[in-house]
Amino acid sequence: MKMKVLKLTIKGGVDKDRVPDAVEEIDVNRGEIIGIVGPTGSGKSTLIGDIEQLAHGDTPSGRRILINDVEPEAQLRTDPRKKLVAQLSQNMHFLADMPVDEFLRMHAKSRGKDAGIADRVIELANTLTGEPINPSNPLTTLSGGQSRALMTADIAVISDSPIVLIDEIENAGIKKHEALRLLAGEGKIVVVVTHDPMLALMTSRRIVMKNGRIIKVICTSEEEHRVYLDIERIDSWLMSLRETIRQGEVVVA
Ligand SMILES: Nc1ncnc2c1ncn2[C@@H]1O[C@H](COP(=O)(O)OP(=O)(O)OP(=O)(O)O)[C@@H](O)[C@H]1O
Ligand SMILES: [Mg+2]
Repeated sequence: MKMKVLKLTIKGGVDKDRVPDAVEEIDVNRGEIIGIVGPTGSGKSTLIGDIEQLAHGDTPSGRRILINDVEPEAQLRTDPRKKLVAQLSQNMHFLADMPVDEFLRMHAKSRGKDAGIADRVIELANTLTGEPINPSNPLTTLSGGQSRALMTADIAVISDSPIVLIDEIENAGIKKHEALRLLAGEGKIVVVVTHDPMLALMTSRRIVMKNGRIIKVICTSEEEHRVYLDIERIDSWLMSLRETIRQGEVVVA
């Protein structure tokens, strides 16, 4: 049984020139999606890495990560069965070559869950991808978007990791905002590095990085939320156009 994570806290460290982070403490609550933004090389992946490792002053940034207000015990860092953090990486490589449903059933069983939830994972994954996944297909034949959709659904349904880190989902070829909403809806803490306006504005807050430093945290304003709703409309229109074209049909105005 995994511990219940209600809150993740990032305790500020220092940047590349040892200048302290501008924000000393950032609390992220269960079910919340928080963004990380900033130019190339500004330290976004480094911050994600701090969370992944549950840093305790032992990384170049010197940051500390607290879970439910306390420093997690060493076991949580080292024991893979106790791992609190799952990372959705850009490139998925499946080591095992077995049918999708067999893999999911095995994973469910290894987590002490009913093998039947494999069907739910595939069903969810198929809401995120354009081309449905066939449960009897081998894992290695999945497209990039399909594997990512599958992993997202797998994290949401089977894996117990209460914290999910996503480093650049932009080019994943899946319904990205639905993927994020899905993960947050399962009560996870989602940390996402993104410059996609729709994703960045669907977060409640975004951490701004520069030169390896947390320079501020922007709360998504009402005005930004309205812009988000506009982008969402445009996005679903674009998606439907894409689908029309993919199906070989003619677009009508
Ligand atoms: N707080 C820090 N202290 C020391 N070094 C840091 C810190 N933050 C970032 N760095 C270093 O700066 C370099 C760039 O950082 P990082 O890869 O995290 O940037 P990024 O924002 O993810 O860039 P990209 O957008 O290109 O992915 C890395 O070599 C990293 O080790
Ligand atoms: Mg990076």
